[in-house]
Amino acid sequence: MPEPTPLDQTKYAQTAIPVEAVMLRRWSPRAFSDRPVSEDDLRSVFTAASWAASSYNEQPWRFVVGRKGDETWTKIFDSLAPLNQGWANSAPVLYASFAKKTFTHNGSPNGVAMHDVGAASANASLEATVLGLHTHGMAGFSKEKLREAFAVPEGFDPVACWALGYLGDPGALPENFKEMELKPRIRKPLGEVVFSSWEKPAL
Ligand SMILES: Cc1cc2nc3c(=O)[nH]c(=O)nc-3n(C[C@H](O)[C@H](O)[C@H](O)COP(=O)(O)O)c2cc1C
Repeated sequence: MPEPTPLDQTKYAQTAIPVEAVMLRRWSPRAFSDRPVSEDDLRSVFTAASWAASSYNEQPWRFVVGRKGDETWTKIFDSLAPLNQGWANSAPVLYASFAKKTFTHNGSPNGVAMHDVGAASANASLEATVLGLHTHGMAGFSKEKLREAFAVPEGFDPVACWALGYLGDPGALPENFKEMELKPRIRKPLGEVVFSSWEKPAL
């Protein structure tokens, strides 16, 4: 991984026990630089995504990827909620994820399709981190706009939109985002999320 910037150091996760560095280093910025992302790096990011585990190895994920200035980027951007448009405009790459809703081997509903798309997306973000890139997921977008813009078939659902690129200058962000961009990250303690019986901490 390339040298962390001072902001990456602020965002670095503080954990009581050691965890693989890439997990601690990933964070979701809102300010991206205009440095372009190479095709090789995009290939690495989506290769990492494609090696996620999935139920029946269905690989229900699909991604639509656009670069700033092209039609795909603009369609994804146009589907974003205004609040997200306020910062995602600086992202050199936008991508959207989709889930195939049924299993190919028998046509039955795949109840974990969204889960598996999330796993693939997490892989993509971690690979991006290794490459010195950053990602930022977005739930704030219009599924209808995205579906229409890409003529997404009935059997697929939009899941999330993502910004990808190199870290930019937080000073360039709209005022409402600046404070969040500079704050250290926080997480719930393990006792609140890992149980031996419901709400009884396991660890
Ligand atoms: C699926 C998903 C949807 C998200 N939606 C939004 C969003 O619409 N707008 C936004 O600013 N951040 C969004 N986020 C970013 C989260 O707020 C962020 O991941 C969380 O605060 C933890 O911060 P970290 O990723 O820097 O650890 C989303 C993240 C994910 C994974």
